[in-house]
Amino acid sequence: MDTARVVIDPAFRIGEADRRLFGSFVEHMGRCVYGGVFEPGHPAADRLGLRGDVLELTRELGVSVVRYPGGNFVSGYRWEDGVGPVGDRPRRLDLAWKTVETNAFGLDEFMVWAREAGVEPMLAVNLGTRGVQDALDLLEYTNHPGGSYFSDARRQHGVEQPYGVRLWCLGNELDGPWQVGHKTAEEYGRLAAETARAMKMIDPGVSLVACGSSNRGMPTFAAWEATVLEHAYEHVDYISAHTYYDPSDGDRASILASAVDMDAFIDEVVATADHVGARLRQRRRLKISFDEWNVWYQSRLQHDLDRRGWVEAPALIEDDYTATDAVVVGDLLVTLLRHADRVGVACQAQLVNVIAPIRTENGGRAWRQSIFHPFALTARHARGTVLRTEPGGPSHDTKRYGSVASLSTVAVHDEEDGALSVFAVNRGESPVTTELDLRGFPGLAAVEHLAIDAGDATDVTPRRLDPPRLDGGRATVRLAGPSWNLIRFQAPR
Ligand code: AHR
Repeated sequence: MDTARVVIDPAFRIGEADRRLFGSFVEHMGRCVYGGVFEPGHPAADRLGLRGDVLELTRELGVSVVRYPGGNFVSGYRWEDGVGPVGDRPRRLDLAWKTVETNAFGLDEFMVWAREAGVEPMLAVNLGTRGVQDALDLLEYTNHPGGSYFSDARRQHGVEQPYGVRLWCLGNELDGPWQVGHKTAEEYGRLAAETARAMKMIDPGVSLVACGSSNRGMPTFAAWEATVLEHAYEHVDYISAHTYYDPSDGDRASILASAVDMDAFIDEVVATADHVGARLRQRRRLKISFDEWNVWYQSRLQHDLDRRGWVEAPALIEDDYTATDAVVVGDLLVTLLRHADRVGVACQAQLVNVIAPIRTENGGRAWRQSIFHPFALTARHARGTVLRTEPGGPSHDTKRYGSVASLSTVAVHDEEDGALSVFAVNRGESPVTTELDLRGFPGLAAVEHLAIDAGDATDVTPRRLDPPRLDGGRATVRLAGPSWNLIRFQAPR
């Protein structure tokens, strides 16, 4: 039996677990909006058409911030098509997903939904087919109190008070040749800087995200970030990162090690941003907005796009997730937490139906996928200070990433109520007996051990195991291979 030892100590502080790390994403893509969050006439829908069953699951998931309206969709979107009387809204071609967009759901409906869901909105402006002026018009609509053309339009639409949206994405994946309005790093960097500068003239309180690379494998990766930030560094607050891990080839050892890649990706973006910051003599350090991440069976997208013409809200990439995928998602969350000092926002993509933790049937039920559980449990229990852990222990070989550490761990300590949550992933196939050295937290007692065991293909929900006993400040747990685990401890109150 393999063994490992993990020392957990309050002195090993990384940073606060920002609630914004538990974000999600609603794009006008497939059935995420239409048939997902919004379906007028559905038995669970309210008078606006917002599905109550999906709202309930969103709240249960513990999502903190939701990015909207895209994604690739935003790069050809005219936001004003989606406000005002629904009967007057135009039907448009959405080039990103070869779909007819009815605009029955738009900004004001999203803001009502966000309020009901209890999430912070994160809006994206179109820097593909549009530019500075349209971003300003949208910001005037959302954040200006009144007495100007767009703020008064909002009031005429029944929204007296400004929304006060704080988080904004300056476009989406403009490094990608698939993007409508794709740009070079020079072109985008200038546009992002000018848009940011002007947006802060309307509302200096906004936090702005410049587009980083669409993924770490892009040929322009790192050079893109460097050039964009040469132009935009002083005007923005975050640089974005996106990544999807594809299990289609059935190479389970590699997909289970996906977080190794995310970890390196974060380190490289931080190094690139800090290099530019140093060159520009900037004291302020940027954070990463990891505003798209997930497991995605990407081979299915082309198949979905090929088999139809221009239609409304087709089913697109409605991936069914396994227990292995849930372990990967749990490990990606562990990795985001381990970088809590430099990752300030993260959004799992997407929320409903499209590569999502929540699935629905049109006119029918809504349900949780396997990946729902590690997200919901991490969002609920990762509160307080994130603590660095160095698990050591065994390693194993993978085709994609070479030799990788089998264990991946992080701990989060809630100083206020004395709770300590340990998140531990075994990426390997063999169980690992792991000693948790908790002598830095005198008097703790274990209260719960939940595990998603990917060795048991039939069980995609967390299983409750016996919590470990503490002996001289040490607890021993068996981490099945492969599995995601949450072990919770509590100090005496
Ligand atoms: O989330 C699906 C798509 O993936 C998004 O629209 C795009 O930004 C990314 O490539």
